[in-house]
Amino acid sequence: MPELCVIPGDGIGKEVVPAAVAILEAVIPDLDMVFAEAGWECFLTCGSAVPESTLETIQSCGAALFGAVSSPSHAVRGYRSAILVIRQSLDLYANVRPVRSWPKISPRSGVDMIIVRENSEGLYVGRERLEGGTAVTERVITRKASFRIGNKALNLGITQQRQKVTIVHKANVLTFSDGLFRDAVRDAISDELAVDELLVDAAAYRLMGQPESFDVVVTTNLYGDILSDAAAHWGGGLGMAPSLNWGDQIAVAEPVHGSAPDIAGKGVANPIAAILSGALLARYVWGNTTAADRIENAVAQALDCGAGQLNSTKGITDSILALI
Ligand code: IPM
Ligand code: MN
Repeated sequence: MPELCVIPGDGIGKEVVPAAVAILEAVIPDLDMVFAEAGWECFLTCGSAVPESTLETIQSCGAALFGAVSSPSHAVRGYRSAILVIRQSLDLYANVRPVRSWPKISPRSGVDMIIVRENSEGLYVGRERLEGGTAVTERVITRKASFRIGNKALNLGITQQRQKVTIVHKANVLTFSDGLFRDAVRDAISDELAVDELLVDAAAYRLMGQPESFDVVVTTNLYGDILSDAAAHWGGGLGMAPSLNWGDQIAVAEPVHGSAPDIAGKGVANPIAAILSGALLARYVWGNTTAADRIENAVAQALDCGAGQLNSTKGITDSILALI
């Protein structure tokens, strides 16, 4: 029986996660769920954005669905974005972000890419300091982390029957760090799948003009953060973009969007990114392709029937549920 730790978090996380849970329960009736806390509200009430008990629950379940959390716009002592803490504490070193065209809501058809973002290092190691009037940020790229993300991209490419992996970097300027990343990813992929590479600026340009030319994309942490938001446009926007933070034993699925405090509590948030994040758990973590296909097909049909025009979380969820 699969176990799932459910973490709604803040803002619209509390609205879209129950929608995703309802859909998961419909396709996996024996799913065993445990609820846990994380985020800004949790920080205010219990003094920690991610209590130790939450990390333990994620670990013991092996899988979690995380909604969204708010962060203050100013630095607060002791506070770091909950999702960053979870990624780092559990060594969820890959961030898998598929982007595909959906009926009616996508600006064009034929897009079907998987962005594999390195999720453990790069500019996210948190090594920033002020030296008088100079701010210094260290960017760490290791051969170990680059090789394992290359390996993740290769495995995904093979299991999902993909044709090509594109390595995105900036090795013309960052010769040591991005050069190392590129070489280690190439070593991981070897000749098991076709590989090409693109500089990140050229990749951004191609993403705008020829998004259908991408298959699997593997890149460093910040490039992946930026490119995946841009790519989400082709999937119908951030309200449609799912992701999976994935280590060797543990996975945390998460809609790419944030907690959207401006629309929270109004019942108008699009739950599809969260619902599709649930499908990623089914497909990649539980190996339940049937459940994942049922969810994604129901989403596609609901959109085809105009669900994308509905301005209500409940309306969209019910229209998908009815098609499951
Ligand atoms: C994402 C988000 C996070 C990131 C933020 C909330 C820290 O933008 O998941 O893409 O930068 O990784
Ligand atoms: Mn982001």
